[in-house]
Amino acid sequence: MADNVRPASMERITTEALAKDFITEQISALRAQIGDKKVLLALSGGVDSSVVAALLIKAVGRQLVCVHVNHGLLRKGEPEQVIKVFRDEMDANLIYVDAADRFLGKLAGVDDPETKRKIIGAEFIEVFAEEAAKLDGISFLAQGTIYPDIIESDKGVKAHHNVGGLPEGMDFELVEPIKLLYKDEVRVVGKALGLPDGMVYRQPFPGPGLGVRCTGAITRDRLEAVRESDAILRDEFAAAGLEGKVWQYFTVVPDYKSTGVRDGLRSWDWPVIIRAVNTRDAMSATIEEIPYSLLHKITERIINEVPGVNRVLYDLTPKPTGTIEWE
Ligand code: XMP
Repeated sequence: MADNVRPASMERITTEALAKDFITEQISALRAQIGDKKVLLALSGGVDSSVVAALLIKAVGRQLVCVHVNHGLLRKGEPEQVIKVFRDEMDANLIYVDAADRFLGKLAGVDDPETKRKIIGAEFIEVFAEEAAKLDGISFLAQGTIYPDIIESDKGVKAHHNVGGLPEGMDFELVEPIKLLYKDEVRVVGKALGLPDGMVYRQPFPGPGLGVRCTGAITRDRLEAVRESDAILRDEFAAAGLEGKVWQYFTVVPDYKSTGVRDGLRSWDWPVIIRAVNTRDAMSATIEEIPYSLLHKITERIINEVPGVNRVLYDLTPKPTGTIEWE
């Protein structure tokens, strides 16, 4: 499709001034496309959907209906941030769906990674479709498609990526205002739209969320250990000035226990594995050389603050041979 090809003449958006020009153009294009109709958007809180939401709020205000599905596999503080930024600060028409019990119920006892991904993807579409069915008069569906998604889907790469594709049987016209932009341009536009840095410069986060970092069959207590240890890691990386410098960093809590000792008694608890990598395109990756002093500090906090954990390990594996995620 011709309108899915970035024109050679299109200047790379690298400055605030260029971002503002893009925003002005898009606001009029969106108003022309949407008129007085309503638009629906699945707002995950990731950079792409957040930028699309902010653009649409500027263009059509409360004609945009955002649905934020909390699948229970989000990082600590994420749903709260989406509500604060969009509902409280931008006055968005935001529907928040706490579907954690539904997702965790469907995932109970499922240990195969690809089956877990499929369940999460299918359930997401189901929840989103149910919300859409409750609404009247929606004509458009907005999506945070970006240019690499178009290039990669043409090549057939990344088939399982990105939950929240167009639900089947949903007869909406698509609104995709950032589909010709590269990721770095989306960030420049997001910054110019006034989105917080924590949203604009966010590290990549997989659609299935913490679900692929709680390896094997997910249990609520081990999922909490992933969420809490991830929050400590992010906190300490930010304090050490590594936020925005290291490409992706997170923790994994495998379905495995080892003997430990705490308060003079034997314990039988999980290890937390720290992963921190740098890459250009996620096809290959090298590890970040975290200073030992920082590793000690993070370890100390995790073993003292996260229930059910008695060890901390650092994954030294490059990609290949290890993938970035553990599942
Ligand atoms: P791997 O683990 O394949 O990850 O080295 C490469 C990049 O892709 C992300 N990733 C996913 N993103 N849905 C997504 O939206 C997924 O199922 C998924 N699996 C991996 C991963 O976080 C890394 O940035």
